[in-house]
Amino acid sequence: MKLVRHIANLGYGSRKQVQWLFREGRVTDAAGEVLYADDRVPHDAIRIDGELLDPPPGLLLMLHKPVGVTCSTKDSGRLVHDLLPARFRLRDPALSMVGRLDRDTSGLLLLTDDGQLLHRIISPKANLPKVYEATLARPLRGDEGVRFASGTLMLESETTPLKPATLDVIDEVHARLTLGEGRYHQARRMFAAVGNHVEALHRSRVGGLALGDLPAGEWRILDEASRAAIFASG
Ligand code: URA
Repeated sequence: MKLVRHIANLGYGSRKQVQWLFREGRVTDAAGEVLYADDRVPHDAIRIDGELLDPPPGLLLMLHKPVGVTCSTKDSGRLVHDLLPARFRLRDPALSMVGRLDRDTSGLLLLTDDGQLLHRIISPKANLPKVYEATLARPLRGDEGVRFASGTLMLESETTPLKPATLDVIDEVHARLTLGEGRYHQARRMFAAVGNHVEALHRSRVGGLALGDLPAGEWRILDEASRAAIFASG
């Protein structure tokens, strides 16, 4: 692919704007030699103002979504994309969220521009466990785990029962819920179905990938090992 298109696709500007970067001699190779718009050069060899480019397509990143941020591209409040470099919004192929978290849910959110990878992660066939830490308004009664594991629990206004889910009770009002599917507001609605209310919800893990100690609002690009970890069990 010609450099001008490659760089424009990474969100550095329209083709016209990127043409100007070339005219100003700001696009070089690693040795500082000026490159031209229709050159074809490997991604890693390109510099703009001496800086390496953002990662090429095939990007996967994890973000610690804070409470109050919306998983949407057009909403009036604070958006997930506001936590990322503005350029990322303009990438082609687009950087998409892998599933969603409610505005009031914090935790691990993945974003990728790799459509196949996105489908592999969210596919019901993959059945990847998603782990949520819930803080409840009322003490647990004791039978919630059995009901969640039954495979017969029905959520309001749904026509098929939920797949079995695992509940690990931490104390009276804290529990860890592991879901294999991802229905709308599923965790909150499950606790509502057993007469409770979720006060705070945090996703700590997707597949074998844990959020770890990534601070709220921060993100990092995932390397091959972390990518593989998503599909590894445990
Ligand atoms: N379940 C919910 O209720 N909310 C989320 O954000 C994710 C799962």
